[in-house]
Amino acid sequence: PMPSLARLYQSYFPVGIAITPGQVMFGGNTQIAEQFNVVVAENAMKPFSLNKFGPGRYDFDAADAIVNFAITRGIKVRGHALVWHEQAADWMFYGSGPNGDATREELTERLHTYIRDVVTHFKGRVYAWDVVNEAFIPDEPGKPQIDGWRQSNWYRILGPQFIALAFKFAHEADPDALLFYNDYNTEKPAKRAMILQLIRDLQTQGVPIHGIGHQSHYTSTNPSDFGSLEETIVQVSNLGLTNHITELDISISSNPMTGSEPELTPELELEQAQRYHDFFSMCLRQRKNVSAVLMWGLNDDVSWLRNWPHARFDAPLLFTGEMKPKAAFWAVANLAKS
Ligand code: G3I
Repeated sequence: PMPSLARLYQSYFPVGIAITPGQVMFGGNTQIAEQFNVVVAENAMKPFSLNKFGPGRYDFDAADAIVNFAITRGIKVRGHALVWHEQAADWMFYGSGPNGDATREELTERLHTYIRDVVTHFKGRVYAWDVVNEAFIPDEPGKPQIDGWRQSNWYRILGPQFIALAFKFAHEADPDALLFYNDYNTEKPAKRAMILQLIRDLQTQGVPIHGIGHQSHYTSTNPSDFGSLEETIVQVSNLGLTNHITELDISISSNPMTGSEPELTPELELEQAQRYHDFFSMCLRQRKNVSAVLMWGLNDDVSWLRNWPHARFDAPLLFTGEMKPKAAFWAVANLAKS
């Protein structure tokens, strides 16, 4: 019989996945509740999903299907993501300012209303929120930025203080929710420095932030090991915050951007299992500082990487499309037993 990752890791940290409403609406694959004790909506809790059609026009049905599935089974729910440059409710950025942009006042008011309404709706059911996602891009010189700050609509209209505003509004709406800043490349020194600076700035202003989410979308070769991620985790912890691994997957390709798209050979499956082993070893070593680990998808067939950066093959997760456990699953399971 297949062991349960949730049970094996019970005394360390919750283990989970990103899911879609369709995967759970009719009770769901029994392996979801058997294997995992924390979930996040892959897309269903983004502003684009909840509030696409304008002020006050919310649609919580799909997100509620996920939350109700989880709550009735004792599964924790992370909320993702209140403020992001992608999958936003784009109407928020239009208004009575120059060129038809929202003014600072208009956007601040909409940010406040959105966060208040959404966090209140899920209050007591969503225990942790990704309040702001991917604000920093110091390692991507080709993209528009100022001092490493991504030139999103949020930044363009509100400036860097959009982050403090978002955390403040979220805390007001649910003082018990854990509030996270979430990003990728958190193992890279430049991004790490910006995140640590953000934490210090928020702490100085008395704005609550409780954790950093490390997306952890990795490839078969990058990063070469997880030592620099561990260093980020330690430094975040030294400032008094916890860490969640929020979107873990490990591509079997060394570089999806440049088109290497191997099949899942036995060799690659074992290499990937070793990478998962190394990753979870690091998390176990840091278990005082890592308080949840989530993978970004139920199985290989539904991974976002199958569509990124174009339609292609990949197999980055623990289960095949038929929900058969892969070598990576056994590596993660056996680690907790040993
Ligand atoms: O829902 C529409 C559907 O109506 C339409 O027919 C179809 C045609 O393209 O698109 C569907 O929307 C897609 C949506 O996922 C829901 O499936 C979008 O095209 C697609 O771009 C979108 O991708 C999501 C992506 O975020 C958006 O940037 C991925 O599923 C999701 O896994 C991904 O998740 C992000 C995290 O939120 C943040 N960190 C990175 C991570 C991976 O990019």
